[in-house]
Amino acid sequence: MRASAVRALFAVANRPEVVSLAGGMPNIADLPLDVVANTLSDLVKTKGQQAMQYGSGQGEPMIREQICDVMALEGIEAHPDDITITCGSQQGLDLVTRIFCNPGDVVLAEAPSYVGALGTFGSYQCEVVHVAMDDEGLQPEALRAAAQACAAAGKRAKFLYTIPNFNNPSGVTQSLERRKAIVEVCRELDILVVEDNPYGLLTLDAEPIPAIRSLDEEQVIYLGSFSKTFAPGFRVGWVLAPHAVREKLVLAQESATLCPPVFSQYAISSYLANHDWKAQIVTFKDMYRARRDAMMEALAEYMPEGTTWTEPKGGFFVWVTLPEGLDTQAMLPRAVTARVAYTPGTAFYADGLGSRNMRLSYCFPPPDRIREGVRRLADVVNREFELHQTFGLDQSPVHRRISGPGPEIN
Ligand SMILES: Cc1ncc(COP(=O)(O)O)c(C=O)c1O
Repeated sequence: MRASAVRALFAVANRPEVVSLAGGMPNIADLPLDVVANTLSDLVKTKGQQAMQYGSGQGEPMIREQICDVMALEGIEAHPDDITITCGSQQGLDLVTRIFCNPGDVVLAEAPSYVGALGTFGSYQCEVVHVAMDDEGLQPEALRAAAQACAAAGKRAKFLYTIPNFNNPSGVTQSLERRKAIVEVCRELDILVVEDNPYGLLTLDAEPIPAIRSLDEEQVIYLGSFSKTFAPGFRVGWVLAPHAVREKLVLAQESATLCPPVFSQYAISSYLANHDWKAQIVTFKDMYRARRDAMMEALAEYMPEGTTWTEPKGGFFVWVTLPEGLDTQAMLPRAVTARVAYTPGTAFYADGLGSRNMRLSYCFPPPDRIREGVRRLADVVNREFELHQTFGLDQSPVHRRISGPGPEIN
């Protein structure tokens, strides 16, 4: 396990004068706290004895049933018995990796990929092999090539880790055609798919695309979460897995925690039963859309020529690529001094790529702060670019290819 190289800077980035486009905290300011307070108060009064007791290692039956309704919104047909409740989807990732991976095993993952997943894979001493993506998501032929290269080297890829909706950090969404093709390749090469989908219901422009799990029940392990559609503090997520995997997950969950937090499960279950949670998601989406639009407009207005970025259709993140020669990690102290923060791209690769990239989050600051943050950032990039042009400093490490053919995202 390693601490992030930019951790110390983030302490400074949290100061109020800094516009932080770095963190990925959901914005829960629109939650009706009075409704939640009444729900919790009723819960303690009417079911306090059960809610504050130990519970099932698999999670409480009631919430597992309700989760089936949540997943149905993305085309998934599931049985409550195939669901294991976890402490956020982060623990789902941990348990799945614990079950499948020994030190040295390969995990295939999109490039770039969620930093928290890379941390988990690293903690179990897995080797992460990145697979190229483009603006339609992970490339199936690159996946095939990566898996075959692993096999040729005598290594077995244990699973593919993918975030099909509004990928953290790139904001890219896999098209339905890509999802089908990825499932085909994984079936053919007998590779499990771990589908991590915390943002799927936060679509800002269109209806959700069917989940990969809706295309295949046997090959896919699905991770879900209430962190972005309700609140992360309850720490409730889930894993939907084929029966044999589910049995092992419950054993792993019992050895990790005895049981996932019972009070949190009751709280979320009551919230789902007594509150119009779908309307709440619409409220969240309206709020995130205004922020996403503010960021898109500001990037177009302020960023220098040669800079490119993705256009997310949902979720929290935009992935920016700076002109050749600039290095976002080296630039970060200068940006924080100019009172704006972002996450450097290298955090999202296991192999040192991403030096020209940065992740910008639009989820938390209000639209006017986002505009101001992007304006400050563009000033810093412009100065950096001028320096680079004047002195010709090549700060970027030697460019290395991601495995597999096709264009790279950076
Ligand atoms: C892609 C992805 N997976 C998993 C998580 C973990 O979420 P949680 O453990 O709160 O459910 C996050 C959090 O930001 C995420 O972005």
